Amino acid sequence: MIATADTDFARAVVEGLSQHPRVIPARYFYDRRGSELFEAITRLPEYYLTRTEVALLRQHGPDIARLTGKDRVLVEFGSGSSAKTPLLLGPVNPIAYVPIDISADYLFDAAEGLAAMHPGLAVLPLAGDFTASPALPAAVADAPKLGFFPGSTIGNMSHRAAVQLLGAFRETLGEEACLVIGIDTRKDPRLIEAAYNDAAGTTAAFNLNLLHRINRELDGTIPVFAFEHRALWNDSLGRIEMHLVAREAVRFKAAGHSFHLQAGESIHTENSYKYTLQEARLLARAAGWEPLNVWTDPDGLFALHVWAAEPNRIET
Ligand code: AVJ
Repeated sequence: MIATADTDFARAVVEGLSQHPRVIPARYFYDRRGSELFEAITRLPEYYLTRTEVALLRQHGPDIARLTGKDRVLVEFGSGSSAKTPLLLGPVNPIAYVPIDISADYLFDAAEGLAAMHPGLAVLPLAGDFTASPALPAAVADAPKLGFFPGSTIGNMSHRAAVQLLGAFRETLGEEACLVIGIDTRKDPRLIEAAYNDAAGTTAAFNLNLLHRINRELDGTIPVFAFEHRALWNDSLGRIEMHLVAREAVRFKAAGHSFHLQAGESIHTENSYKYTLQEARLLARAAGWEPLNVWTDPDGLFALHVWAAEPNRIET
């Protein structure tokens, strides 16, 4: 690939690798190969998140519908392949579905599939970055919204960025809105570390794919074999961190810049914050949401929260 120096990815890599400690934002994991590897992660025995959330949605879809009422517009942030959406569409029976995703290919395919499965449902896909507060289609302006943000994607953000994003959802979704959000819980660190350090090495491949992606897209010369995947629980910050650690001193080029890492130096590639139920409720309130209900599995591995928009009113 040529003329790479001015893409978002190139800028983030050059900036992040010039910093100390070095960092590459987690959103760049998801090229085609990265998305495939993430799909594979969701099926791993150690990765409890996806299957637990799916079970919670299956079990509590009707409870959510009772809580939020009918005739809403379902708005999904980062809808991807919309794999979990049918679990809400059935019980909630919205008047329209607005999937929002940055990857237009996935988005329109998934939208078509869902429209075919639900005749009569208006499906209005929105291609764009959900963190940039895209305006919803005018056709759904007046109906109350039900936001859907599954997968514990919120965990990738710092607390400050999470409050900012959830506040932006509150603005986008408007008065009377509700939000269904999946958030991974704080638990025995051994279970968390295993989920990010699986025996089959799939998470390692997912992490290392970021280096392959740099080589592919940014004319990189990274000796990928010289790096190893590391996942560790940071207890004081309440997050699992993923790193790529240099086994030896390495030199390489990427996006026209030269880099030199010492043996043992790391590139920080992801944070995945975990929240107790109380912490999650505080996050909600800080962003203009009132917690309505929360369901967890019997082992407390994952939480499905339902929040309501705090009304806009004059404060004393
Ligand atoms: C998609 C951000 C929820 O943090 O668990 C999976 C990504 N990283 N394994 C997560 C991920 C390593 C995932 N999220």
